[in-house]
Amino acid sequence: MKSKKYVLSEQDMPKQWYNIMADLPNGMEPPLHPGTGQPAGPDDLAPIFPMNLIEQEMSTDQWIDIPEEVLDKYAIWRPSPLYRAHNLEKALGTPAKIYYKNEGVSPAGSHKPNTAIAQAYYNKVAGTKKITTETGAGQWGSALSMCCSFFGIECKVFMVKISYNQKPYRRLMMETWGANCTASPSTETESGRSILEKDPDCPGSLGMAISEAVEEAVSDDNTKYALGSVLNHVMIHQSIIGLEAKKQMEMAGDYPDVIIGSAGGGSNFAGLAFPFALDKINGKDIDIIGVEPASCPTMTRGPFAYDFGDTVQKTPLLPMHSLGHNFVPAPIHAGGLRYHGMAPIVSQLILDGIIRAESINQLETFESGMTFARSEGFISAPECNHAVAMTIREALKAKEEGKEKTILFNWSGHGLVDLAAYESFFRGKLADHELPQEQIDAALKDLEPLPKPKQAS
Ligand SMILES: Cc1ncc(COP(=O)(O)O)c(C=O)c1O
Repeated sequence: MKSKKYVLSEQDMPKQWYNIMADLPNGMEPPLHPGTGQPAGPDDLAPIFPMNLIEQEMSTDQWIDIPEEVLDKYAIWRPSPLYRAHNLEKALGTPAKIYYKNEGVSPAGSHKPNTAIAQAYYNKVAGTKKITTETGAGQWGSALSMCCSFFGIECKVFMVKISYNQKPYRRLMMETWGANCTASPSTETESGRSILEKDPDCPGSLGMAISEAVEEAVSDDNTKYALGSVLNHVMIHQSIIGLEAKKQMEMAGDYPDVIIGSAGGGSNFAGLAFPFALDKINGKDIDIIGVEPASCPTMTRGPFAYDFGDTVQKTPLLPMHSLGHNFVPAPIHAGGLRYHGMAPIVSQLILDGIIRAESINQLETFESGMTFARSEGFISAPECNHAVAMTIREALKAKEEGKEKTILFNWSGHGLVDLAAYESFFRGKLADHELPQEQIDAALKDLEPLPKPKQAS
């Protein structure tokens, strides 16, 4: 029998996270204080995050010890299995070898608990009593709810309204783990009220939900905010994915020529890719591809610029690919990919030529998800289907070229709570959304008065 999965023991789980900040070929430009435009220091972030996480955010240490309490919780589902997709390869008739890291085995169903556990733990150590956050499709909100319950911290989630209405079961998961979930924009915060005043039917966006969560966090000393993607410390925590995958690829006697991940804020893609990106920085030839929706093309059509992480301009300015903090993407089902910006480290590595980006339309992602489900069995989250679709494109290209490539992709989460999206697809109710350049140009106008990074594009 051919090996189907590569499984590490709990003892083989990595004991340190990898921080690519130590190895960036051209460094990074700093975040800026939104008021002064000067580099933001630890004290500027202190109202939002606990100091132990701020230190990690600014760290350039290559390796960071994973605390024992975090390892203990990781062991609930980690190490996650690496699969060889023999059946998908057969269905496509490709000479390519396809591997995927299954991050859908966590209790919340995605990679998000990898950082939620760590963030809840560091907040607990710092004495935080309550954490606020935003969520798109609900994967991050449910992951943080679970992890806050493990550490006895109250959790409040602002969920993008369109997803709140599309995905009631995610909200119920959050409630099961003891969190309070509110549709955003809400009337509970000034930010939410100001948005609703202009547009009472606003479907919401991640940028708006972040504004609400940050506002609530800064209004109380015992409350902090947590972000599920984008920031450096999130990329560090997610590196556990790639570190395990490296060991598992070794077990399989293979090494990837192509690495693929879906990218909303960049965290699952970075988590898988960065430990391999280090090899590329050191000379290895790997094609590393982040995949985004054509209707929210942050990396492929957004410039590298300083921009706010949220709509109401409460966060520091981050150097990143962005479509502008007021950009509201079409209401596609991959709610977790509807973010106007991209992780600064991912953005920097695009500039450095270490990774590249592609965008794919919604219908192709669902068609690909169907091919995957009917060969490998697993039903993917709509976000994850972007990685599946790119993998299928690459595998078919290998077939055309007659090349035996090795492709590794991150299966970032299951779609069992997203079946309403699949139903819309079956009933012909899903569409591709053309994004006119004028809409992007209009949103980018908001970047004009902001400081420019040295490498502005
Ligand atoms: C299953 C899944 N994949 C991917 C993403 C995109 O987020 P990120 O780019 O931070 O991995 C999300 C976000 O919610 C998600 O739930």
